[in-house]
Amino acid sequence: MTTVDPAGAGASQWPVFIETTSPAGTREVAARLAAACSAGDVVLLVGDLGAGKTVFAQGYAAALGVAGPVTSPTFALVRHYRCAPGAPVGQLIHADVYRTGSVQEVVDLALAELVEEDAVALVEWGDLAAPALGESALEVRLEAPDAVAAPEQRTLTVTGRGRWGDRAAEVAALLEPAIERGSP
Ligand SMILES: Nc1ncnc2c1ncn2[C@@H]1O[C@H](COP(=O)(O)OP(=O)(O)OP(=O)(O)O)[C@@H](O)[C@H]1O
Ligand SMILES: [Mg+2]
Repeated sequence: MTTVDPAGAGASQWPVFIETTSPAGTREVAARLAAACSAGDVVLLVGDLGAGKTVFAQGYAAALGVAGPVTSPTFALVRHYRCAPGAPVGQLIHADVYRTGSVQEVVDLALAELVEEDAVALVEWGDLAAPALGESALEVRLEAPDAVAAPEQRTLTVTGRGRWGDRAAEVAALLEPAIERGSP
């Protein structure tokens, strides 16, 4: 996992870029972000088919102590998982809005309201329904820069808005590999 931040370490501006070279790397990025989550957070997962949105969700869920497999909720649309005692939130909501017919359908899911209780929501294809998901969100865009030459490489572009708007430095620090933070 490498933090590629054009503005340099500790930058206070979005977006923050991270490169991963394996599914495990993407899970690690997700786990680090999960450690900073709090009730009401909505994370929009954006990227093509096979970009790694569900892999990200698996890493995020694991960090919250979710037991059991996290699979794509494409057909269920929304799945609810209980987090382990001591996790920053009680529940993880994992949605995939790829097959929703309209933004109204996502409005009806009331995800932004649901999470206010004691949950965070991860929404695959979140960009398709962003207007229905509240003003505060962390967007994680996953891209495979070269599917042929480097099939396991992904660039993750993280952008925060609303209450995440001024947390770029915090997120960049969280994602920096420990070695670059100067630890022995
Ligand atoms: N660095 C990486 N990060 C994440 N996934 C990777 C990486 N390298 C290879 N992969 C592979 O890419 C695939 C990502 O699949 P995943 O189901 O997470 O995609 P998705 O974005 O959720 O797709 P969909 O839109 O169909 O739901 C997996 O097979 C995974 O092993
Ligand atoms: Mg998926």
